Amino acid sequence: MNNDIKRIGVLTGGGDCPGINAVIRAVTKTAMNDYGWECYGIRDGFLGLIENNIQPLAWDQCSNILTRGGTILGTSNKANPSRFAVGKDKDGEPIWKDVREQAMKHYREHDLDAVVVIGGDGTMSCAATMIEMGGRFVGVPKTIDNDIMSSDLTFGFQTAVEIATDALDRVHTTAASHHRIILVELMGRNAGWLTLNAGIASGSDVILIPEIPYDIDKIVAKCYDRKLHGKHFTIIAISEGAKPVGGVQTIKRRIADSPDAIRLGGVAHVLRDELEELTHIESRAVVLGHVQRGGSPCADDRVLATRFGHAAIELLANKQYNELVVMQNAQLGHVPIDSVANQQRLVNPDDELVAVARSVGTCMGD
Ligand code: F6P
Repeated sequence: MNNDIKRIGVLTGGGDCPGINAVIRAVTKTAMNDYGWECYGIRDGFLGLIENNIQPLAWDQCSNILTRGGTILGTSNKANPSRFAVGKDKDGEPIWKDVREQAMKHYREHDLDAVVVIGGDGTMSCAATMIEMGGRFVGVPKTIDNDIMSSDLTFGFQTAVEIATDALDRVHTTAASHHRIILVELMGRNAGWLTLNAGIASGSDVILIPEIPYDIDKIVAKCYDRKLHGKHFTIIAISEGAKPVGGVQTIKRRIADSPDAIRLGGVAHVLRDELEELTHIESRAVVLGHVQRGGSPCADDRVLATRFGHAAIELLANKQYNELVVMQNAQLGHVPIDSVANQQRLVNPDDELVAVARSVGTCMGD
């Protein structure tokens, strides 16, 4: 029994994804059932710590939420305590301030003995800077991008792959009927995991990921080759972060008051226009967007989220503070939170999965 802990906080930071509520449920139920700890909900990620928006979490609030999408605690990707926008200067640029002391004051005022942080690399980076201030944290890796360092799997990813695969399957029949090229742009930021997995699962003809810059001539050749073999349509799964050889990523927007300001997107439309001009095949682009993050988690993510949430409490119970729960070689483990801060796990172009895609005839754009 760990007598250092009587009360914990829970927060969810960064972009939401299916399975967050399943983690919150597992964390709070394990903490209450197995250890008799009190649980507090911190609203909207680190913003709740900064602005003192922290309330008790009752058993009933954490019941019947396993299958619910989103997060009952709310989230934010603008609330980095070490670099928080507190206003704008005369040019309209954000004024950044380190508000970690303020966040720690609220942590102490609520007698929190530790905080479970459910988030991606940005949220873990925030947690790492709060650990420097004396807070106790434990992390749970969350993102549809599957790009957290040291974990083979994040919860939310498998659901997003299902959604993206379903979209690609549906596009398949309409592309075939109309003899078109259809590009489906998928999320993932700088990591191609989602596109690679959904692309393979749907049998996409071309898969374009950020880690393998594409040569448009290779894609054109693939479309012609398919035509030659009686296939008058082509399905292209393309990551929002994909870029041409020697080129740059397409930026959709910049969010001035977010510490992580860049949002990628739009490359599918750019490539559609170029392909249509070069191939004279009518082409369409579909941007799947936030549909990939919404709704109920798939069964695998429900199980993974529940295991991750339980493992986070076990780490605290064993006084293993400031660690991130991870999955490595199908085994649960943990690594220091600060070891994953400010890093992204990207697809290695020599990955077995890339080789598999190539072997079944998929064009990887190179
Ligand atoms: O990190 C998750 C993610 O969905 C990325 O795949 C995507 O690039 C980004 O978040 C979108 O962010 P926002 O919800 O701020 O548009």
